[in-house]
Amino acid sequence: MDLREKLKGKFIVLDGPDGSGKGTQLKILREYLESHGIEVAGTIDPGGTAIGNKIRKLVKYGSKGITANAEVMLFMASRAQLVAEVIKPALMSGKTVLCDRFISSTCAYQGASGYSIDTILELGWAAIGDTWPDLTIILDLPAETGRQRAGVERSRTVGDDYEQRHLFDSPTADYFDSRPLEYHRKVRRIFRNLAGKYPRKVEILDVKDDTIDVVSEKIRAILSEAEF
Ligand code: TMP
Repeated sequence: MDLREKLKGKFIVLDGPDGSGKGTQLKILREYLESHGIEVAGTIDPGGTAIGNKIRKLVKYGSKGITANAEVMLFMASRAQLVAEVIKPALMSGKTVLCDRFISSTCAYQGASGYSIDTILELGWAAIGDTWPDLTIILDLPAETGRQRAGVERSRTVGDDYEQRHLFDSPTADYFDSRPLEYHRKVRRIFRNLAGKYPRKVEILDVKDDTIDVVSEKIRAILSEAEF
């Protein structure tokens, strides 16, 4: 089957620790798929809708003191809106959806804070029904390398969230950035063990020693070999 037929109406997520290069890879993948005539809807979690963007800013920069339960609910609220408003309609119209993070991130990050992964998955079902990603690719690298790369990236770029950072507590790091290395090690461990617990297919891709070009080739290979 050609790639276009295969990816029609499919929901693909790229996820992984901060600094794993998801953003860059999503951009490259989107261009590659579009050059093959595939209609792509690219989106981001949390965010991707007007309501979701407000939640994104809140959870990243304005939620000091939030309880773990309330934080999980905010992430779920953002993606309930994202699925209803963006992802489901795009899939129904035959587009391929590429999403930056999803419930896999809640499992890893809130799971690393001690929140039950089983409960996260149950809440996930309540938030998104059966619109789970057909394939989740986790870009895997050691926590130390991820922290280093994320730090370099932050000091080099003025991202979409930049203005908002000044409105809240920290102009340089969100709450997740500023957690200790041991927390990010746990995040990585959960990502690496997600296949089996997660409702649909999860592929772990080691990106530690690879260039951007090699990683994008490996992602293409995963997509062409994937059986949906
Ligand atoms: P990013 O989209 O810029 O990577 O930032 C999102 C941050 O929020 C990142 O550090 C991971 C964290 N996060 C969670 O803690 N739980 C979630 O469910 C999601 C989607 C992200």
